Amino acid sequence: MSITFTGVVAMDFDRAIGLRGGIPWHISEDMRLFKKLTMGHPLLMGRKTYESLGRPLPGRQNIVLTRDEAYRAEGVEVIRDVAELERIKLMDSEVMVIGGAQVYSLLLPRMSCLHVSLVSGLHEADTYFPPFEEFFSSRSVVEKYEQFSHVIYRK
Ligand SMILES: NC(=O)c1ccc[n+]([C@@H]2O[C@H](COP(=O)([O-])OP(=O)(O)OC[C@H]3O[C@@H](n4cnc5c(N)ncnc54)[C@H](OP(=O)(O)O)[C@@H]3O)[C@@H](O)[C@H]2O)c1
Repeated sequence: MSITFTGVVAMDFDRAIGLRGGIPWHISEDMRLFKKLTMGHPLLMGRKTYESLGRPLPGRQNIVLTRDEAYRAEGVEVIRDVAELERIKLMDSEVMVIGGAQVYSLLLPRMSCLHVSLVSGLHEADTYFPPFEEFFSSRSVVEKYEQFSHVIYRK
């Protein structure tokens, strides 16, 4: 199976994505979009993002990246290197990269597609998505919601 990587992120106009281990806003419509985009796919996330979720997300294969050899969590598969994805039986070949900043930075050069929920305004934050536009050649606005726009970037 040839793996592809698709990023899914909510960021504001400053590329802010996180604050004190959580997300700087709560937007129900974006949660619904996230669910729709990710359902039925493997999710690749950093250990910190997994711990901020606090549980595996249902209907998806939860894969957590950590350097900690002893790390275990119920209902998730733990890897120490992205290359280990090759030895996991994936529920689908399109792996959704769901953060956080460290894991986005690591996979950005390999993402064939990036779904951005572009949240209006600026927010207090301590975690930012890396500069990314140079990695993609096309940008299309899929839908505008009250508090954010769904934008797709493709290679
Ligand atoms: N707005 C959004 O869409 C969105 C999405 C996701 C997350 N977030 C936010 O982003 C923040 C978390 O982001 P973050 O960058 O601090 O953390 P993160 O990327 O979620 O996790 C970082 C951890 O992943 C592991 N890791 C990273 N690179 C690795 C590598 N090359 N090999 C092996 N393991 C590796 C390490 O775990 P160990 O320390 O265990 O070794 C590292 O500490 C939170 O505030 C979260 O709420 C926002």
